[in-house]
Amino acid sequence: MKNELLAKLDDRSAVIGIVGLGYVGLPLMLRYIEVGYRVLGLDIDQSKIDKLKVGQTYIEHIPAAKIAESIANGFEPSSDFSRAAEADALILCVPTPLDEHLEPDLSYVLGTTDSLVPHLRPGQVVSLESTTYPGTTDEELQPRIERAGLTIGETAFLVYSPEREDPGNPNFCTRTIPKVCGGVTPACREIGQALYGQVIDQVVPVSSTRAAEMVKLLENIHRAVNIGLVNEMKLVAERMDIDIFEVIKAAATKPFGFVPYYPGPGLGGHCIPIDPFYLTWKAKEYGVRTRFIELAGEINSSMPSYVIERTIEALNTRRKAMNGSRVLVLGLAYKKDVDDSRESPSAELLSLLHAKGAHIDYSDPHIPEFPEKRDYDFDLASVELSPESIASYDCLILATDHKAFDYELIKAHADLIVDTRGVYKDDRKQVFRA
Ligand SMILES: NC(=O)c1ccc[n+]([C@@H]2O[C@H](COP(=O)([O-])OP(=O)(O)OC[C@H]3O[C@@H](n4cnc5c(N)ncnc54)[C@H](O)[C@@H]3O)[C@@H](O)[C@H]2O)c1
Repeated sequence: MKNELLAKLDDRSAVIGIVGLGYVGLPLMLRYIEVGYRVLGLDIDQSKIDKLKVGQTYIEHIPAAKIAESIANGFEPSSDFSRAAEADALILCVPTPLDEHLEPDLSYVLGTTDSLVPHLRPGQVVSLESTTYPGTTDEELQPRIERAGLTIGETAFLVYSPEREDPGNPNFCTRTIPKVCGGVTPACREIGQALYGQVIDQVVPVSSTRAAEMVKLLENIHRAVNIGLVNEMKLVAERMDIDIFEVIKAAATKPFGFVPYYPGPGLGGHCIPIDPFYLTWKAKEYGVRTRFIELAGEINSSMPSYVIERTIEALNTRRKAMNGSRVLVLGLAYKKDVDDSRESPSAELLSLLHAKGAHIDYSDPHIPEFPEKRDYDFDLASVELSPESIASYDCLILATDHKAFDYELIKAHADLIVDTRGVYKDDRKQVFRA
């Protein structure tokens, strides 16, 4: 069975099933299509399937033309999970958020697995890509698949291979980002390497799915902890009247042993604020407390409040109270030049401003309307920046340093700017660092 599947992957006659067509699943689909596989895309969101079918996109950096082209070349989007039997490989790219107690919410991963299991057949490989705690693949997925009568490593194969997408980064693409892959058994790993080796330049095999799950968490926790550190350094630097961005830039000239991380208004995105808690939760089962992770989380999640404090200080210099002031948040996306506002600290900034009685607005050229969110509900549309609109606010908070903003125009017409990204270097009367 293994050799049959290897042969199909090798001659590209295998059908690749991608389950969850979001920021991770869609680029992967494009890559498999590019090299000539047929791809079946499954998603529970019918509106996404409908758009894809007619060659439309819902992710800014994936052009509609690319979707239309892939449909013409063998991409078939569907919400009919019984079609999973047609696929030789099933790659799961579904969300892994936290629940309201900051604990892992595996309901999407398990829900998807449960809807696929009745349609699995011998000779398939299942790969989980969603970020999760070590043990998810062999403790949760393996027994579910084996209950369907398949034996992992013999009649079916199971791997974990974490996604490393960096949306908006022009220096890397799906093909050139090395991909880590661990299998439940050596045969599974071999199949995993063959599955990804066809579309990724470098596949990095590891000894188990648990090791692969831990790799992803280490990468993201490394970022979260270092961003926490640099956010703390920012607070100290600010008190000492030192520009932290200047310091980081100079430190980054050290050719070894230093990696630059940048402070900001708080952590955002689907990964960095969330993933560390997957490990924290699982570590408890082993009697280990992850203090570094928790401390970084504490510092990072206090950043929006710090920005608000600085905004109050800034308004104070104009003899204005936050209550009743008009405040515009520049940037709703969690990082520059993307349209993704998941976990964005800008939403928290708007919420804190609103709670203090400010009149709030936001401007983000990538996000025309405030999207539906679990924790925030604002009926807001992006404000167009013009000399008049800028001048109509008491204060602007620069939360996301999109390239599309006209920084000179903003500076020319804003009375006060609270800059969380180190864009403006001088004029401490108009610009407050935060
Ligand atoms: N976005 C990134 O840059 C990134 C990077 C690395 C890892 N990840 C991880 O990859 C995973 C997916 O993230 P994403 O950003 O692509 O999320 P996303 O929300 O963009 O996409 C997930 C898709 O899955 C679909 N879905 C939800 N439940 C489903 C189900 N039961 N069956 C089938 N489809 C279902 C949703 O409709 C959506 O289209 C997460 O675990 C995330 O942590 C994301």
